[in-house]
Amino acid sequence: MSVKKSLKNRKLWGGRFEEATSPFVERFTSSVSFDNNLFQYDIDGSIAHAKMLEKVGTLTEKEVTDIIDGLEEIREEITNQNFNWSTELEDVHMNIESALTKKIGEAGKKLHTGRSRNDQVATDLRLYARSQIDEICELITDFQRVIVNLAEKEANTILPGFTHLQTAQPVTFGHHMMAWFEMLSRDFDRFQDCRKRVNQSPLGSAALAGTTFPIDRNYTSEMLSFDSPCANSLDAVSDRDFVIEFASTATLLMTHLSRFSEEIVLWTSAHFDFIELPDSFCTGSSIMPQKKNPDVPELIRGKFGRVAGAHTALISIMKSQPLAYNKDNQEDKEPLFDIVDTIKDCLYAYAQMVPAIKCNRDNMENAASKGFATATDLADYLVKKGATFRDAHEIVGNVVSYAIRENLLLTEIPLNKLVEFASIIAEDVSTILTLEGSVRARNHFGGTSPEQVLKAVTNAKILLDQR
Ligand code: ARG
Repeated sequence: MSVKKSLKNRKLWGGRFEEATSPFVERFTSSVSFDNNLFQYDIDGSIAHAKMLEKVGTLTEKEVTDIIDGLEEIREEITNQNFNWSTELEDVHMNIESALTKKIGEAGKKLHTGRSRNDQVATDLRLYARSQIDEICELITDFQRVIVNLAEKEANTILPGFTHLQTAQPVTFGHHMMAWFEMLSRDFDRFQDCRKRVNQSPLGSAALAGTTFPIDRNYTSEMLSFDSPCANSLDAVSDRDFVIEFASTATLLMTHLSRFSEEIVLWTSAHFDFIELPDSFCTGSSIMPQKKNPDVPELIRGKFGRVAGAHTALISIMKSQPLAYNKDNQEDKEPLFDIVDTIKDCLYAYAQMVPAIKCNRDNMENAASKGFATATDLADYLVKKGATFRDAHEIVGNVVSYAIRENLLLTEIPLNKLVEFASIIAEDVSTILTLEGSVRARNHFGGTSPEQVLKAVTNAKILLDQR
């Protein structure tokens, strides 16, 4: 059957309209310039929907074959940039549907049976989020691998550990790297956990209330490798909590990357000079010829702002929306896409940059030897010789104050002087005051000793291989 299109409004939904859409409204409400990013998922969802309609007897085999062939042709055209996107057709869904009908005629007009753009877009978005989570998790794993390798290589390297950015206690560089590894493991787990809630199929919820056709939602869900169909049609078309959860997970990841970046910026500065980045990851200054700036980590530090901003945008878009679908939700796509592009670039950058980090071991060790980093070791030593910890703390405070006055390192104070502070100090104090002695002594699960670092590295490799 062919229907005469209203001359005034040629939209797919134009039947009840008497006037054409204003060009401003057309431009303002259109999302195709960005949601065309979803075309693969839109086509996958449509193919699953069409096959299901055939299974339940609503479409014929011939119609569905035509629909699938047509959609595959469209997929190819879009991939080869041979597809004419039209703002007039508003979004990715109507662009593809109308191209299909142009290609195959009446059968194309049947594709939308028992479906709405509301369940369609929610499905597309979930398929997109799922596939991006998988890519992001691979990138996190790549990044973690290079961290583990660096940790293994630098298991014995000592640098000052800081609290309040003041020298606190010596730590090994490998241990420091493995701290980043742990943070990224939690980020990985959070993305995996988010994936569970992403991986449910809204298809069949139609506009909001379900449909009168005898659909099989389990069948579409399985075809699209979802875990199950969403249990409530109103919820399925309206909530974007899975996008918000993804964004908040991404924001935490960026929090970690910003911290890592901050340390790299500090460590490459002349005042620390702990590490060097390869030239290929730095840029120069247009005026100061001596400069080699750590632009990549700085930019990653700055990109936290974009991701956190996008997260704020997404949660604000959702807040106070009445059930079910509202056009507000069209605003979810640009922030989501921007988060995805940003975090993938940042993770890629890190996976490339970390293996090229060169550690200036002498500088690190030299820095650790200043600032009385082994003062706690001396206090612990006194406790093991019978002092209470509070007394020991006081005694070592006096020793440090003496060393500052005399401009000495703890290791440079002669034994006969130390004994004046506490008679229980003996010859054996010399090893515990050294940096190596200090890190080696922290030899328990989670501690900084080289031995523990190597154990953590072994466990980390097993974990990564199991992914
Ligand atoms: N472009 C819309 C979006 O991104 C698709 C769904 C439109 N649905 C509607 N009833 N207008 O959310």
